[in-house]
Amino acid sequence: MGYLSMKFAKTLALAAAMSTFMGGAALAETIEITLTVKEVDLPIDNKGTMMPMWTYEGQVPGPVVRATEGDTIEFTLINPATNKNSHSMDFHAARVDVLDEFGSIKPGESKKFSFTADYPGTFLYHCGTNPMIQHVARGMFGAILIDPKDKDSMPKADREFVLVQSEIYENGEDVKSMMNNDWKHVVFNGRAFRYDPVHDPEATATLEAKPGERVRVHFLNAGPNEFASFHPIAGIWDKVYPGGNPNNAMDGMQSFVVGPGDAASFDIISPKEGANAFVNHSLKQALTGAIAVMLYSEDVSDEVGRGDNLVVR
Ligand code: CU
Ligand code: CU
Repeated sequence: MGYLSMKFAKTLALAAAMSTFMGGAALAETIEITLTVKEVDLPIDNKGTMMPMWTYEGQVPGPVVRATEGDTIEFTLINPATNKNSHSMDFHAARVDVLDEFGSIKPGESKKFSFTADYPGTFLYHCGTNPMIQHVARGMFGAILIDPKDKDSMPKADREFVLVQSEIYENGEDVKSMMNNDWKHVVFNGRAFRYDPVHDPEATATLEAKPGERVRVHFLNAGPNEFASFHPIAGIWDKVYPGGNPNNAMDGMQSFVVGPGDAASFDIISPKEGANAFVNHSLKQALTGAIAVMLYSEDVSDEVGRGDNLVVR
């Protein structure tokens, strides 16, 4: 389930309508987002090795939340009574009070808070409940994309993908292993080699686009510990936008470092059919799971990398 199918509604904000009369800016909207915490077993590789995970909506990463700069997000977090742990929500796109809005709720509780999306970009969200390293390592993170109000501030992407890097620890109860950085896999979107049939014949998915299309990868690093040096094997990033902010554009990059709790948007255009491999060029991380194959061919469905399909499931 992606952001479009989440329970959400939009209403016009009166203040924004007023400013439109005065200036002609895009109408700001109020977007209602509800996320339910689900403590569930999920596969952490392509052969289906299951691990007890803590998640937003039963998926790792959680659903993509998307809004436009200036919008108000009215957020509801639900922690069902069937869960065993307290949880919370920390949106990196929000300017609020860490003890109030980002505070934890117990099983059986829910909470609401709202914020305005003041800065455009690609932002992480995650659970901040103590021990935060465990809540992140067990899967409680996702992407919130804040599109720039000025649609012309970035070249239009033909397709977009969300890749969230994280570490998998063998035992989700062993917080000490997380403090020791003793991970087994570094992965994109929750599973080792999820989009890499080259290193894992059991992988069933790849990223896909047509030659000549501008592909924008929103790359987020949930960590909890490792840095990522994100590189396209057999390609060059046409643009890199640190933080996903159009004011931060860089040209012609081979690799760019995204630290834990950070994100960047990476544009790539392939002049020909074939493939790139997006890797964390810190090679121990690549070779334990952090590789995604990107295929370029003329027969790609119009659905891929668009609308509700930014996280290839
Ligand atoms: Cu949590
Ligand atoms: Cu954070």
